[in-house]
Amino acid sequence: MKILFIASEVEGLVKTGGLADVAYALPKELQRLGHDVRIVMPAYRSLNDIWMQWPKRQFSTKISYFNTETVDARYGEHEDLPIIAIDHPASFDRNGIYDDGHDAFYDNPYRFTVMTKAALDWCKLENWQPDIVHANDWQSSLAGFFLQEHYRHDPFFSATRSVLSIHNGAYQMHCDPKWLAQVGIDQRFYNPSDFEDNGHLNMLKGALGFADGVTTVSPGYAAELTTPIGGHGIDFKFRNLHRPIVGILNGCDYDQWNPETDPWLLAQFATPDDGGKARCKLGLQREMGLSIDAKVPLLATICRLVDQKGITYLIPVFKELMANHNCQVAMLGSGDPLLVAQLEQIQAEFPDRFRFVNGYDAGLSHRIEAGSDAFLMPSIFEPCGLNQIYSLRYGTVPLVREVGGLQDSVCRLSKSERNLKSATGFMFSELSEAALLEEVLRMLNVYQHKQTQWKALQRNGMAKRFSWKKSACQYQEFYRLLLDAPRAEH
Ligand code: ADP
Ligand code: GLC
Repeated sequence: MKILFIASEVEGLVKTGGLADVAYALPKELQRLGHDVRIVMPAYRSLNDIWMQWPKRQFSTKISYFNTETVDARYGEHEDLPIIAIDHPASFDRNGIYDDGHDAFYDNPYRFTVMTKAALDWCKLENWQPDIVHANDWQSSLAGFFLQEHYRHDPFFSATRSVLSIHNGAYQMHCDPKWLAQVGIDQRFYNPSDFEDNGHLNMLKGALGFADGVTTVSPGYAAELTTPIGGHGIDFKFRNLHRPIVGILNGCDYDQWNPETDPWLLAQFATPDDGGKARCKLGLQREMGLSIDAKVPLLATICRLVDQKGITYLIPVFKELMANHNCQVAMLGSGDPLLVAQLEQIQAEFPDRFRFVNGYDAGLSHRIEAGSDAFLMPSIFEPCGLNQIYSLRYGTVPLVREVGGLQDSVCRLSKSERNLKSATGFMFSELSEAALLEEVLRMLNVYQHKQTQWKALQRNGMAKRFSWKKSACQYQEFYRLLLDAPRAEH
């Protein structure tokens, strides 16, 4: 199959979160299955040094009745994956991916529409007829709409089917309806069933109705999206798709996340107690300025500092843990300045037991995964989540909330503790500080007093595999189903 994969970030090139991990690992695995996959992404300024060297081909892309843009397609490769970087300086030659460090760029609806439309027009330029156009999140969501509306009668795309994957349904791109005309959405689609949402243009909501197939990154989140609590205000849209939304759990790229070979680590390890993990723990304590202590439980968190991750529940729990319990915390993250200030305050009070690194650091994220005893992920919602999966592989026991992909990837230690053959971590349900604290204290008790149980959790987690091959095969099946079916009628 020819698969055009459109994404706003790709691991190894540009990354703000898990979408990048997927936009690298899934195409790579689809390629291994024998498919011809091309990734289209923006030629961001941060990548100038890379793509400026790549050969280019200029073409024009008609975004709307009003706007036609001239863009360069830059042809490159990233670890054997063919990349087409859309070079459009007005959209991408600026500092920042989605924002300037404070505010989202006002023209985001237009910038990413240029990427999406150019991706389709590039296919025509090269006479490369895709079987599947696979869009990801709101940024490329209009691909299906363009195929259905702008290219409805174009024989070039008559056999093409579109897939829209939701990595995070909370980001929908609500914007002023003035963008409708700019991004090529006809006024007749500005109605409550399509793109209109309480007086705003909602790009993701409207786009959902035009994709031939919609997927998301775990079965749990697929179910939640169709409910009023989990549907981010557009649950009715998720309930009324042409075919039900399909949840395919993300995999883990074990070439990158393998404690036996990980080059970022002080020591590699194959089991939780072959000495390597213990060295990583001491190394992490030293690196982060925590007091050196092999025995003290070391809890970790790595994430974007946004509401989704449940940080507002974690902060009071951290305070309680620091005040009244014997443990350490290593945290890495960037984002909301108010959360940063609160975390820095805890650090100032307990500098040898609580360390927070405000920033983005790939190497440190690997060393935290390796050197910690447990990983906390109390997300309010979590489409899939990758860090709990990395934690499992590194013998770092995850404690997660029973939600989305977290419940699909962690097997909780039952209250009776009898499921020691399968349990891999801890899980709590109620979204409250008290419920989180209770589960953390339960976990600390197991760590300190029940070595057999703790070792079983570590061993079970390390033996688990979330194979991208399995996920890629599920996508392949889904693509085939779409190709065998007529195009979804709007
Ligand atoms: P999300 O996509 O919602 O941010 P995921 O758990 O799916 O959550 O993926 C987050 C990815 O980004 C992981 O690979 C994680 O290690 C990485 N990450 C997040 N914050 C940081 C950070 N501050 N430094 C390094 N890596 C980070
Ligand atoms: C999103 C989600 C995260 C998911 C990632 C990759 O950013 O928040 O849960 O793992 O996309 O699909």
